[in-house]
Amino acid sequence: TIRTVTARAVLDSRGNPTVEVDVVLADGSLGRAAVPSGASTGAREAVELRDDDPRRWHGKGVDRAVAHVRGEIAAAVTGRDADDQAGLDAALVALDGTPAKSRLGANALLGVSLAAAKAAATAHGLPLYRYLGGADARVLPMPMMNIVNGGAHADNPLDFQEFMIAPVGAATFAEAVRMGSEVFHTLRRDLLAAGHSTGVGDEGGFAPALRTAEEALDFVMAAIERTGYRPGTDIGLIMDPASSEFYRDGLYMYTGEGVRRTSAEQVDYLAKLIDSYPVVSVEDPMAETDLDGWRELTARVGDRCQLTGDDVFCTNEALVREGIRTGVGNAVLVKVNQIGTLTEALGTVAAARRAGWATVISHRSGETEDTTIADLAVATGCGQIKTGSLSRSDRTAKYNQLIRIEEELGATAVYAGRPHSGV
Ligand code: PGA
Ligand code: ZN
Repeated sequence: TIRTVTARAVLDSRGNPTVEVDVVLADGSLGRAAVPSGASTGAREAVELRDDDPRRWHGKGVDRAVAHVRGEIAAAVTGRDADDQAGLDAALVALDGTPAKSRLGANALLGVSLAAAKAAATAHGLPLYRYLGGADARVLPMPMMNIVNGGAHADNPLDFQEFMIAPVGAATFAEAVRMGSEVFHTLRRDLLAAGHSTGVGDEGGFAPALRTAEEALDFVMAAIERTGYRPGTDIGLIMDPASSEFYRDGLYMYTGEGVRRTSAEQVDYLAKLIDSYPVVSVEDPMAETDLDGWRELTARVGDRCQLTGDDVFCTNEALVREGIRTGVGNAVLVKVNQIGTLTEALGTVAAARRAGWATVISHRSGETEDTTIADLAVATGCGQIKTGSLSRSDRTAKYNQLIRIEEELGATAVYAGRPHSGV
């Protein structure tokens, strides 16, 4: 039973305040969770409640969300059974009472939802991945490592937000991390040698002043090869253009290149990139409002490339079902704070899986030292995690947690490797 619920504002990786919640059970078990925060958010995400007081935290304060946890939410959930996650989350959703969780804030609700799960796991003496995933939870996810940052995550001219590497050919998760780290450091040397900045963006990837996706992809390809790996066989490429961010009035506006592309031209361009490089997955290749474009691209390359919906689905089960019905992509990015409770996020994973779609557990660009998503990736057995670069502790904390889980699982651990479902 839940004995106390409290909350506070702590700092996220961008130095903005975010909600951290402590749930303590009657037996003294503590669960603590800090809520992440996005920069390139989808229009239909659950609402992150901010104070909007320009005199404090530049308007980004979370005092209202913290007060909701300490007041109304604590009063409603104290005495509840923490083992009944579905019941707890349904109570949180009902208490808020709005479609987008705008009254109490998805940041308030998610903090309580995750902290309760962690407290329950502690009470059972189980690691979170085992408490949520059962004895079968033993698949370590293939990491999507974001080593070049652009778009809303950096101040460079790159229009695409993320260029990632995926060690599809690694034997273990720990080896995948080593391979990623080696390529990351080769890339650093290469960028430096070419006269580029090696400063990093919000997710810890380099943010050089490159102008086109091809330039970024060529640097990454060269780094993979120079490190001694085979592109495509050992390490695949992944992009998140985050296209909604540069889609205006029906056109994709490439400021780095100084060109604009129609939806049909965007489909052609993405298809060309997918066929010219060993690309295993592209996230948000088309804008969240360009569903015809999404369907075009899915029909064109969906048989040979994972097309992952982030902004277009917002981890919302109803939106995912609609996408499955209408042929929008073939995979779902899962960000717990886009929907606001653990149970709903797991429902989205289950709905995608029933359709044979892949799912990717994901961080946000604003993160903390909280490593819950690492456990979630193993608990769901989804086989893929996106949690940033090989630098910055807010990103590496998740990799480090997965290294520990792999060690704990010992010989029963399985590294997921190359994604195949839905492709
Ligand atoms: P965000 O970016 O957390 O800033 O939304 C991550 C993504 O687009 O995948
Ligand atoms: Zn995205």
